Amino acid sequence: MSNITLHTLSARKQAGEKFAVLTAYDATFAHLVSSADIEMILVGDSLGMVLQGQDSTLPVTVEEMAYHTASVARGNQGAMIMADLPFMSYATPEQAMESAAVLMQAGAQIVKLEGGDWLCESVSLLAERGVPVCAHLGLTPQAVNKLGGYRVQGRDRQGALKMLEDAKRLEEAGASMLLLECVPSLLADEITRNVDIPVIGIGAGPHTDAQVLVMHDMLGITPGRTPKFVKNFMAEADSIQDAFRQYGEQVRDGRFPAEEHGFE
Ligand code: KIV
Ligand code: NA
Repeated sequence: MSNITLHTLSARKQAGEKFAVLTAYDATFAHLVSSADIEMILVGDSLGMVLQGQDSTLPVTVEEMAYHTASVARGNQGAMIMADLPFMSYATPEQAMESAAVLMQAGAQIVKLEGGDWLCESVSLLAERGVPVCAHLGLTPQAVNKLGGYRVQGRDRQGALKMLEDAKRLEEAGASMLLLECVPSLLADEITRNVDIPVIGIGAGPHTDAQVLVMHDMLGITPGRTPKFVKNFMAEADSIQDAFRQYGEQVRDGRFPAEEHGFE
């Protein structure tokens, strides 16, 4: 696969073509994911849970994110690499720039941060300095203590309007992408149609421009119950690489996610 850039993915949105994103945290899996034509790898702070066994993403540090981002970059075969800025590493715009520099120098090509319009100043400063930003809205796991649990966001009218407004403000501030987690499908559709930047969904229904899953979830190896937006792609695959390939194909042709994987 030739190198995927922001330009490639923006053009996909304009053409109405979907793309697939999958988490990876090391070189071997980055190699497998990118060789299976998944357009983007997310080095998510979900690694706190799936690799470290923490019960939230809060303990993850910038140094740990940099270590995994560098590992992914070494195995990557042309996918675009997005890395999460971890909890409290972007509490001020200055801190956001310092933390983003570490991840970009480790091999990230875009950074993701969680939150609404309070992020606008950081997003602008990063974008002006050449760092593309993805803003993560809806269920923002770093705020789990404030949200009172992992629950669907934007179900009430006020919350929905605020999220739509935040999305527009973040685009205006210079965000290059948005990610919506656990948002009603109709709201995700509305937001996707109201911004020109690509919108990645997880638990956000079938209408976003792209989809992301945590690798361990889609391989069916996450212990315990998985959320309803997850599909086990190993169930019908004969290898891990085949599961990755089917995931990419099903996202691009709109078979995954189906309405049943979303929230009303
Ligand atoms: O950390 C992560 O894997 C994420 C996805 C669940 C969107 O942020
Ligand atoms: Na994350």
